[in-house]
Amino acid sequence: MTRSINQKSQLDKEAWQLLDNSIIYYQGKPVGTVAAHDPDSDALNYDQCFLRDFVPSALVFLMSGKTEIVRNFLVETLRLQSHEKQMDCFRPGSGLMPASFKVELFGSEELLVADFGEQAIARVPPVDSCLWWILLLRAYEKATGDLELARQPNFQAGIKLILDLCLAHRFAMYPTMLVPDGAFMIDRRMGVYEHPLEIQVLLYAALRAAGELLLPDGDGDRYLHNLTGRLGALKYHIRNYYWLDLKRLGEIYRYKGDEFGKEIANKFNIQSQSIPGWLAEWLPETGGYLAGNLGPGRMDFRFFALGNLMAVLASLSSELESQRIINLFAKRWEDLIGYMPVKICFPALQGLEWQIVTGCDPKNIPWSYHNGGNWPVLLWIFTAAALKTGRVELAQEAIAVAESRLHHDRFPEYYDGNNGRLIGKEARVYQTWTIAGLIAAKELLANPDYLNLITFAESFEDMQCIL
Ligand code: GLC
Repeated sequence: MTRSINQKSQLDKEAWQLLDNSIIYYQGKPVGTVAAHDPDSDALNYDQCFLRDFVPSALVFLMSGKTEIVRNFLVETLRLQSHEKQMDCFRPGSGLMPASFKVELFGSEELLVADFGEQAIARVPPVDSCLWWILLLRAYEKATGDLELARQPNFQAGIKLILDLCLAHRFAMYPTMLVPDGAFMIDRRMGVYEHPLEIQVLLYAALRAAGELLLPDGDGDRYLHNLTGRLGALKYHIRNYYWLDLKRLGEIYRYKGDEFGKEIANKFNIQSQSIPGWLAEWLPETGGYLAGNLGPGRMDFRFFALGNLMAVLASLSSELESQRIINLFAKRWEDLIGYMPVKICFPALQGLEWQIVTGCDPKNIPWSYHNGGNWPVLLWIFTAAALKTGRVELAQEAIAVAESRLHHDRFPEYYDGNNGRLIGKEARVYQTWTIAGLIAAKELLANPDYLNLITFAESFEDMQCIL
């Protein structure tokens, strides 16, 4: 018994040490963590600090009192934020936060160099970076009680620039945000263009965070007014039109097409023939989830874990829907957790669909990488969502599954196969967000109060409805 406790704490120590080794220093100060420290493969851009990858690291640092690195990260990435007014070839638009950055030496001077996607494979825009940035700023404030940082004029201006970019009115008919393919964690062509769930959920959470962080002085009031309006519309849209359970599926199945006018059922002209064959059988009686995407004549019925779990954390899904999302995991454990939590999306695209949708991407072959691979980084979000919905036993079980393999397998980036049994075909090892994801999950389980760093209560208006 004592030996196994010792062994366990030895493993914990190893994970903390690996996280420590991943820290990037700039002018002597810690500013971020590298994406991976794989001794066996070419670094490519994995020696950079990705903003989205830093999220679990930041949460771990905030939970353990190492708040300085998170503060430095927020300050430096704000300096990197794009102020470019022109929007020509591969120029980031004003307000965009980089996908990643690294420290480069120019003579004897160290400089931070950012990549906004202009160097990334396929030149994909990191839309999620600025949304995660706002969420981390709020988490920092919650963990430290330091309200001054976000109140500094440059921080207020940075938040407003992000809001300008995200809330700009262009041709959109929906309150959801229109984005190109590969604009978030899934940063390759995967048919996740238009209104992917992940982005909408992150937008919702970031708007709620911005509502807490923005000061009402000057033009702050106008921003607060705009974001409040958008929050209401976004929540209505996602809850009403993205939600899928057996009842809803039955309605879609009997939809009529080509309906015109205001009071119609099939607002987006979804054809019942587009419902995939696996779905009716797969959906459990007590489960449900938010669809992957919704556009004109298009509902992407795939299940995407990050968007659904973040919807639970942000209270974008109602309490009942959140319970149903977690029930789906419980009932479809083999598919969504299997041998490594958590499946990034279900099911994989196969055959002709894979050819057309991914453009024959050899990295995203069925049940690999973004196309149905299992990503241990998602363990922390799963744990947080399970705890928020009172399903502690599911969090414990998932952590146990992950822990039984991650140390031995050297913390791979992702796993492959229907149930995540194989280490990913091209996965790196010592991937930082895998390491941080495990530590963050264990810390959350040990101290559920940390949930407040990254969760949102049902909003005020909802509480009024309930009362
Ligand atoms: C891959 C992932 C992306 C991540 C990056 C660095 O490109 O798809 O989400 O940020 O690796 O780990």
